[in-house]
Amino acid sequence: MNDPVFLAVKHDAPPPDRRGRPLRDLRISVTDRCNFRCTYCMPKEVYGNDHQFLEHKELLSFEEIARLARIFARKGAEKIRLTGGEPLVRRNLESLVEMLAQIPNVDLALTTNGTLLKKKARALWDAGLKRITVSLDALDDATFMKMNDVDFPVARVLDGIAEAAAVGFNPIKINMVVKRGANDNCILPMARHFRGSGQILRFIEYMDVGHTNGWRMEDVVTARQIVDMISADAPLAQADPNYRGEVAERWRYRDGSGEIGVVASVTQAFCRDCTRARLSTDGKLYTCLFATRGHDLKALLRGGASDHEISDRIDAIWRQREDRYSEIRTANTVAAQKIEMSYIGG
Ligand code: GTP
Ligand code: 5AD
Ligand code: SF4
Ligand code: SF4
Repeated sequence: MNDPVFLAVKHDAPPPDRRGRPLRDLRISVTDRCNFRCTYCMPKEVYGNDHQFLEHKELLSFEEIARLARIFARKGAEKIRLTGGEPLVRRNLESLVEMLAQIPNVDLALTTNGTLLKKKARALWDAGLKRITVSLDALDDATFMKMNDVDFPVARVLDGIAEAAAVGFNPIKINMVVKRGANDNCILPMARHFRGSGQILRFIEYMDVGHTNGWRMEDVVTARQIVDMISADAPLAQADPNYRGEVAERWRYRDGSGEIGVVASVTQAFCRDCTRARLSTDGKLYTCLFATRGHDLKALLRGGASDHEISDRIDAIWRQREDRYSEIRTANTVAAQKIEMSYIGG
């Protein structure tokens, strides 16, 4: 743990957690709703018409989110990512972006399914967002529609990506969750499509997040298999991480035509360097994507706590943290009642 990045501590930073990890990233879920029903995330059988989403009054307001974000930034969070659900279905998200973009020394990013990007890219850019990641699981409509389960066509997501590139987002990252038998036949077409585009495609191992997606290890296509498959088509060489604890492992095309990433959260856990805290839509703090319980910060916010008191509470939570779910996954943990990703934030 003698990495200078890990040693450089802000004066207001919480003590490292029980495994020596500082708090560096905050991922904020701004809505538990989504206009997709991806089978691996919000399966229709569970998130059909009568699913109870959070009521508006339960959501943190933009002012509440911004206040917490400022507190976290003072404590050393250098990166804030807005997620969901689908963040762009929350009305006026650009005004939240504008508030967060004013926080000094924070790298602000957003993960979206791209469906509303054509309409929103300009406003987000103008509000100060500089980094965007778009989820896209296939290039052919038949496969994509089967995965999003709402008949949404690929072309409209590609239009959204093109618009984001046109307004200035660069590089745009593309996330593809790979599920065996569902879209693994799209690995090569996706790689070929994005190679040379300047956009960075990342393949994500299908994970057992939440408890509704019926995850099975047999459905995981491993990062190793993905790299081997692409490398046989266009040779790859491993590249150094951009920063310690980077989630995606980087591979560049040997001919200089760009890079891909693989997120091997199942087969090569990266908990050792995990500096991520997650804030749910209704203001609970989670210290792991696979947590079974969160810590209510909304009650503090609405109960009149001072910044100082909230800050102390975050310290106390972080100090106790010992999560390393991906390192200790077993059949029992897979079956546990974990919080859904759409609520806790991807
Ligand atoms: P940048 O490096 O800032 O661009 O972002 P990132 O690599 O963190 O990318 P992103 O936030 O898009 O994460 C990519 C995917 O990795 C997510 O969609 C998740 O599926 C997975 N992921 C991100 N964070 C975690 C984590 O803490 N634990 C696990 N197990 N998976 C994660
Ligand atoms: N496994 C892996 N990645 C997932 N995502 C959502 N559910 C899962 C899962 N079960 C990804 C989405 C998106 C990001 C927010 O998380 O595809 O890129
Ligand atoms: Fe929506 Fe993203 Fe979940 Fe798909 S993975 S249902 S787009 S939140
Ligand atoms: Fe971090 Fe939990 Fe993911 Fe491990 S499983 S990397 S501790 S969020």
